[in-house]
Amino acid sequence: MSSQASKDHQEGQRPPLLVDDHTVATVRESKILVLLRGLPGSGKSTLAKDIDQKYKDSSRIISADKYEIKPVIRSSSGGDYSKLDDELRSCFERREVSLVILDDTHHDRERLDELFDMANKYQFTVVVLEPKTPWRLDCAQLKDRNHWKLSLEELKNLRPTLEKDLLPLYFGWFLAKRDEDSLRKTSHEFLEQLQNLKTFKKRLQPYGYEDKHKLDLLKYFAKTPNILHCTAKFCDYGKALGSEEYGHLEAVKKGYSKGYTLHITALFATPRTVGAQVELTEDQLLLWPADAEKEVMPKDTFPRGSRAHITLGTANEVQDVQTGIDLLEFIKLQQSGREGENVGEFTGPVSGKISYYDNGMWMLNLSRKIEVKSIFSGYYGKPGVSIPLRGGKKGLLHQCQIL
Ligand code: A2P
Repeated sequence: MSSQASKDHQEGQRPPLLVDDHTVATVRESKILVLLRGLPGSGKSTLAKDIDQKYKDSSRIISADKYEIKPVIRSSSGGDYSKLDDELRSCFERREVSLVILDDTHHDRERLDELFDMANKYQFTVVVLEPKTPWRLDCAQLKDRNHWKLSLEELKNLRPTLEKDLLPLYFGWFLAKRDEDSLRKTSHEFLEQLQNLKTFKKRLQPYGYEDKHKLDLLKYFAKTPNILHCTAKFCDYGKALGSEEYGHLEAVKKGYSKGYTLHITALFATPRTVGAQVELTEDQLLLWPADAEKEVMPKDTFPRGSRAHITLGTANEVQDVQTGIDLLEFIKLQQSGREGENVGEFTGPVSGKISYYDNGMWMLNLSRKIEVKSIFSGYYGKPGVSIPLRGGKKGLLHQCQIL
């Protein structure tokens, strides 16, 4: 192998957040928790240091070794993580920290769940990385490399918990903090302009309002995802059809932890959901499951990527997944030649043509696409975590009702 080819090969093994400039810029504008996962001696600490070096002032490493937490299969009491968790919380609270790197084996599901809860609470996107060293699963070699002096037997006991891929509730593009804040504002402006529209006030019936003076769309769409995102593949931690295959796709492995710019072409509201339509690029379509549209509308045919969206809010007792279905309803009407009735223009930060479709369905075709930076990763926590639309940055977390 030539030295350039060897360098390219090595770079290919390194995660995008180390080697891709666009990703580095996106991570700096995000809130990311990197969980390094792997057997003791597999190369996690080296990777942690490399990442920390890259981000310097805006990153913090937390190592389980510092707290002398020995990597073993937990007994019911588990290791003592209380001091480490204090440090983690204090990192999450620091404004200047965009990247927290947690160096531990992360073999224990209970421990992982605690971390996912904490990351959600502070609205950090989780990225799980594993070192790609050739010996990472070779217990005989690891026996000599791990400073805990774990025996071959102990390593062999740990190995099965770490050799299987950790599949998330869903894979998707998670918005960088700055762009997320700005899109939340845009969503508010859209809803405010919509409810001030005369024609909207005349067509309140699908929204169940009898008195137009009580109209408050921000309250109506009271739930909003904890971190705004565009779902690519819903995996249900591996239980959903095709999720293992999806996790193994070369494009997914390559795209994981990479920064992408999403292009929003329209905003829409229905009596159930408010969302943003996303136009995926060729590169992003490689991460889009072939059956994503058929999954929810098996009888119809849509161009690939038609369902791509960002849920901005949902009405009471409506699940987020409804937003993509609502978007396909708009596209279905457009395909049948019913473009919607043009009822005027919105001006200001959310400008474009506003159209009315049937049954309380409104769509704003933006005069200029909105670009938002995002990181492609997984959401590993519990389902249904959302914050109230007006909750602000420290909004209370609550479990929304799962129908
Ligand atoms: P969306 O991507 O439209 O916002 P929940 O919290 O309700 O379990 O859902 C978690 C996330 O996964 C949400 O973002 C949701 O919708 C998406 N989602 C839920 N169920 C599905 C599904 N069957 N197919 C695709 N995405 C889903």
